[in-house]
Amino acid sequence: MQGNTGRLLEEVLAGIKAFGAETEVLSLKDLNVQPCVACDVCHKTGVCNIKDDYEIIKDKLLACDGFILASPNYIFSVTAQMKALFDRCNGLIHCMALEGKYAAMVETSGGGEDEEVLAYMNRFVNTLGANSVGGIGSPIAGVRTFPNEENLFANARSLGQELCQSIKDKRVYADQGGFREEFKLRMSGLVDVMQEYWPFEREYWANKRK
Ligand SMILES: Cc1cc2nc3c(=O)[nH]c(=O)nc-3n(C[C@H](O)[C@H](O)[C@H](O)COP(=O)(O)O)c2cc1C
Repeated sequence: MQGNTGRLLEEVLAGIKAFGAETEVLSLKDLNVQPCVACDVCHKTGVCNIKDDYEIIKDKLLACDGFILASPNYIFSVTAQMKALFDRCNGLIHCMALEGKYAAMVETSGGGEDEEVLAYMNRFVNTLGANSVGGIGSPIAGVRTFPNEENLFANARSLGQELCQSIKDKRVYADQGGFREEFKLRMSGLVDVMQEYWPFEREYWANKRK
C-alpha cells in the first residue's frame, strides 16, 4: 500500500490477519466515484444513477461484517475522494442500511487535528447505523514514518483485533446508541415526509419496522 495512511492501515490489517479474518482493500485512487448530483434517484429506486464504481463499493459494504475508513487529513477533513463517497452513501444513510456492522477509522496528518478528522469519520459510521469500534490517527515524522512508531503500530494492530473481536462478540457500544436512535427517528421521519417521492426508502423503512 502507498502513502502514510496506507502504512498505518497496513498495521491495522496485520492485526486483522493475526485474528484470522479476511480483508479486501479498496483504494479510492484506483476507483471512479463521482460527486453526488442530488438527482434523488437512489432514494426512489435504491440504486444510484451515476454509472461509476459506487455501486460496487455499496454492495461490498452491504456484504461485509466490518469495514475500515482510511484517509489523510486534508484541510481538517477527509480527502475530496472520500467525501464524494460519503455523499454518494446518502441513500444508505437514509436507510441506516449498515446497522449491525462494525467499523474502524484510520487517519494521518502532516501536523495534527487527527481527532477532528476521526470524529467526522466516526459520525459518518454512526449515521450509516454501524458501530464504531474506534479510530487511530497520527501526525507523520517523515515519509511513512511516525512519532512513537512502535507504540502507534501496536495500537493500530490492537484496533484491527478489536474490530474482529467486536464482530465475533456482536459487541454493544452503548455510548453510541443514543446518537443512533435519535438519528433513526430523524431519518425515518424524513422518509415519512418524503414517502410520495422516495418509494424505495419508504418500503425499506416499512420492512425495517416489521
Ligand atoms: C491537499 C492537502 C491538504 C492537507 N491538509 C492538511 C491539514 O489540514 N492538516 C495537516 O496536518 N496535514 C495536512 N496535509 C498533510 C497530509 O495529511 C499528510 O501528509 C498525510 O500523512 C498524507 O497521507 P498520505 O501519504 O496517505 O496521502 C495535507 C496534504 C494535502 C496534500
